[in-house]
Amino acid sequence: MELKIFESPAEVARAAAEHWLNLNPKSVALSGGSTPRALYQLLADPNEPFREQVAWDQTHFFFTDERHVPPDHPDSNYRMVDEAMFSRVPVPQQNIHRIPAENPVAEDAAKVYESDLRKFFGEAIPAFDLIFLGIGEEGHTASLFPHSPALNETERLVAAPFVEKLNTYRITMTLPVLNNGKSVVFLVTGASKSKIVREVIETARKPDLYPAQAISPTNGAVSWFMDKAAARLCSTSNSSNTAAESDLLNKNP
Ligand code: 6PG
Repeated sequence: MELKIFESPAEVARAAAEHWLNLNPKSVALSGGSTPRALYQLLADPNEPFREQVAWDQTHFFFTDERHVPPDHPDSNYRMVDEAMFSRVPVPQQNIHRIPAENPVAEDAAKVYESDLRKFFGEAIPAFDLIFLGIGEEGHTASLFPHSPALNETERLVAAPFVEKLNTYRITMTLPVLNNGKSVVFLVTGASKSKIVREVIETARKPDLYPAQAISPTNGAVSWFMDKAAARLCSTSNSSNTAAESDLLNKNP
């Protein structure tokens, strides 16, 4: 587990964009929510170096999860990424693999998405070159929420759990996929995440309570790209009083 701490959300986005260029991924799973928007906007910004360097026509974009809404809904992760990035870059439409969350039956949307994944990656478990994740204040990641039965899924690639807290279904990649990523990057910013970050990174492993602790790639690396505000309660951030890269011993074997 690698911890990278930066001064600001803008620096986190820039570091993530540079990581992307270094990897030159052919398959990327994009996270939703609000945190990664800055990264997507930066990658698409014509006044920044990234737009010209990303191999848009050779990269296939998937989503780690989606809300159970149509793609034009304000809550849609696809809509967020389309507005921030896809609509502003030369990515071929066939390279965008949207979760069909407009399907009235979330379970059917999950099945369709699973077949899309299997068609692209073959029958093996998808091995994404790069996966972005976020974390909720209660420890969820993707749409794997605390105590969700989807956390115990070992065969299916995509699940459609009902999320009691939100009173809605979600569609989400499961741990077999998320833990098969070659580079899995948590993007976390803001003081509101500092408590859960410390819980997840520095306390004993309780993945049913903190699903983000279940992310431990078998053949890959997990990194946390955070600003100082999100990392402020972590023991390692107290020792580094400047924005610096801190390798943190893996506290959750
Ligand atoms: C989603 C995300 C979810 C997100 C966290 C953090 O669909 O909302 O996949 O897992 O990463 O909830 O969200 P913020 O970035 O908005 O804090």
